[in-house]
Amino acid sequence: MPLKKVGVIGAGQMGNGISHVCSLAGYNVVVHDAVEERLEAALATVTGNMNRQVGSGKITEADRDAALGRIETSAKMDDLSDCDLVVESATEDEAVKRKIFSALCPVLKPEAIIGTNTSSISITRLASSTDRPEQFIGIHFMNPVPVMELVELVRGIATEDNTYELSKAFAESLEKKVAVAEDFPAFMVNRILLPMINEAIYTLYEGVGTVEAIDTAMKLGAHHPMGPLQLADFIGLDTCLSIMQVLYDGLADTKYRPCPLLVKYVEAGWLGRKTNRGFYDYRGEIPVPTR
Ligand code: CAA
Repeated sequence: MPLKKVGVIGAGQMGNGISHVCSLAGYNVVVHDAVEERLEAALATVTGNMNRQVGSGKITEADRDAALGRIETSAKMDDLSDCDLVVESATEDEAVKRKIFSALCPVLKPEAIIGTNTSSISITRLASSTDRPEQFIGIHFMNPVPVMELVELVRGIATEDNTYELSKAFAESLEKKVAVAEDFPAFMVNRILLPMINEAIYTLYEGVGTVEAIDTAMKLGAHHPMGPLQLADFIGLDTCLSIMQVLYDGLADTKYRPCPLLVKYVEAGWLGRKTNRGFYDYRGEIPVPTR
């Protein structure tokens, strides 16, 4: 049975991107967030990003209008009941995700698949908090979703072949390439990327380089499209910290110890681009390093 209707839980930067690519690919999309204002902001963001794509000739105005017409928003979980697939894309916090699944499962039709966009938490453990571990899978998108070509698919111990095959076909229908990861902390991309970012923060913390010097070094010296501190701000420093904590707890190796400076930024509420301040201050015309 092909998937037709996709629910997206969480209208943050990842949820917006997922809704964007799903609606452009022809799926009917229901975006759910408990906070009504976030739903309005989500539609504005998706519209803005689709306008960028119209501007650069990637899609037509007609594609944009049709895709936007396929997106519904709702603050009620009940409105996800007839979705064929629901992609949970809430905050990277296990307790929050479990609470969402316990509200979702009783209303969602029994044959539907639940995917999670978690970037680090055990799929097997999250699956066990649902009524359908066989129909549960990690579908991990990269930010910005409309631009990045990869989806990591992560099977939990109970994920059935049919769930995997449908999810793979779904990711490919969004014109993404799939890489399959085993269910270990932070999977592949973040297992490799986040320790690099954490090390960049240690490099700053120990005074080896300034924010600008570190980012310039990695942009020009390793051809990364963004410097690691700029990328940390882009991902969100709270997300970076929670991924490092999952690696540290899950693999019990001190090499994953989150840098105290990262902890301090998160404690300050300086979470990067989404709060307008992180390793850079984004409140002015151009980003200014905060150290
Ligand atoms: N929606 C739609 N289009 C977007 C977009 C968005 N949100 N953001 C950027 N674009 C488009 C732009 O319109 C532009 O399109 P054209 O080439 O057609 O003009 C193109 O992407 C490039 O954007 P810009 O010219 O604005 O800027 P850039 O060349 O500096 O590229 C970038 C921006 C694509 C974000 C690039 O800097 C990049 O690849 N950065 C690294 C991103 C990365 O590493 N992401 C992974 C993060 S890890 C992750 O996501 C996993 C996790 O769980 C934490």
